[in-house]
Amino acid sequence: NGKMNVAIDGPAGAGKSTVARLVAEALEYIYVDTGAMYRAVTLHMIRKGISPDNVTEVLQEAHKLVIDLQPDPGGQKVFCNGEDVTSEIRSREVTGIVSRYAQIEGLRSQLVDTQRQMALRKGVVMDGRDIGTTVLPDAEVKIFMTASVEERALRRFKELDPSEGLTLKQLERDIATRDKLDEEREISPLRCAEDATVLDTTNMSIHEVVDKIVSYCTMVR
Ligand code: C5P
Repeated sequence: NGKMNVAIDGPAGAGKSTVARLVAEALEYIYVDTGAMYRAVTLHMIRKGISPDNVTEVLQEAHKLVIDLQPDPGGQKVFCNGEDVTSEIRSREVTGIVSRYAQIEGLRSQLVDTQRQMALRKGVVMDGRDIGTTVLPDAEVKIFMTASVEERALRRFKELDPSEGLTLKQLERDIATRDKLDEEREISPLRCAEDATVLDTTNMSIHEVVDKIVSYCTMVR
């Protein structure tokens, strides 16, 4: 069908989801936010009181979960066993602990299987940490999006509700901690694939980043 798969990886807060969604829109592809899947599992475990240290129980419970991503004009809706959890998975509580669950090998293989199935027919823009290296090593286009920690914290800060009372420094620290956990884990750590194009977006607008990626896609096709 002439379609390809596009993998977009990078550290927390680099703007991957916004960019991936817009690239998908431009190409008329399906957008898959894999971070949302790890977040949905995390929310479920928090509610059930299952700690990330309790691997056996996490895996047992994860097998019963049905996580569904549905396209939505504002982005993407996330359902967990039929319940819309789109906004709840963005809470600071989930964000603070998701990387601990994401280290569990059996959980990763379960989610990676689902992600690969979503991309079987091509025409997918998938964003995450290990898409170019592990999930879709054959993706036709691979982008590794970065930006300085300060810039990433600032972008998050601007999106935040002031009522949350978070400071820029706190956000920087949260992001740096999550990067470290994601980079240092044993199973598919956050890493730039050898054949990925690195895009440092520190001084780029969303629009510029999207245009650049779409033009790579046109070149490959
Ligand atoms: O992309 P987002 O910030 O929503 O991802 C939340 C967390 O999920 C990451 O910090 C990481 O621990 C985990 N994740 C992952 N592999 C992916 C996507 C997300 O380990 N492909």
